[in-house]
Amino acid sequence: MAYRDWIFSAVLLIGAATLPATAQQPGAAPAEESAEQLPAGPGRDEAFGMCSACHAYRLVAAQSMSRERWDDTMTLMTEKHGMPKLESEDRKLILDYLAKTHPPKKATGTGGFQIPFAPQ
Ligand code: HEC
Repeated sequence: MAYRDWIFSAVLLIGAATLPATAQQPGAAPAEESAEQLPAGPGRDEAFGMCSACHAYRLVAAQSMSRERWDDTMTLMTEKHGMPKLESEDRKLILDYLAKTHPPKKATGTGGFQIPFAPQ
């Protein structure tokens, strides 16, 4: 492995190791994060405000999920981690933003993930 690759992996590892520590400090979204860095759109400030209350928003932005799975994630945050239950309007606003900004990576126009070795 080239030295530079090694450094890169080390940085990734350190980053992963410090993530849970960040999440344990209430309201400890790192100061360098702000809603303005995210793609503009309806629900951006609401999503950033809500989802960075407990952990860095980059934990959210690192995900690529369907609307359905974002929906499940929001339910999980409420049921397991104590996120306030949102009124349907707010919930929809945030969900729309998440689904639009962080969609599944392999999305194709024809219905999302395809099993690569499935018979055509
Ligand atoms: C009340 C606190 C709280 C709020 C608000 C909150 N979360 Fe979380 N979230 C947590 C905790 C605790 C974890 C698990 C610890 C960790 O991985 O840092 C977590 C983890 C996650 C993960 C990683 C899950 C995984 O499987 O690795 C995602 C994605 C996530 N949250 C999304 C969101 C989104 C989207 C919102 C806003 C709609 C949100 N969270 C709001 C507490 C919260």
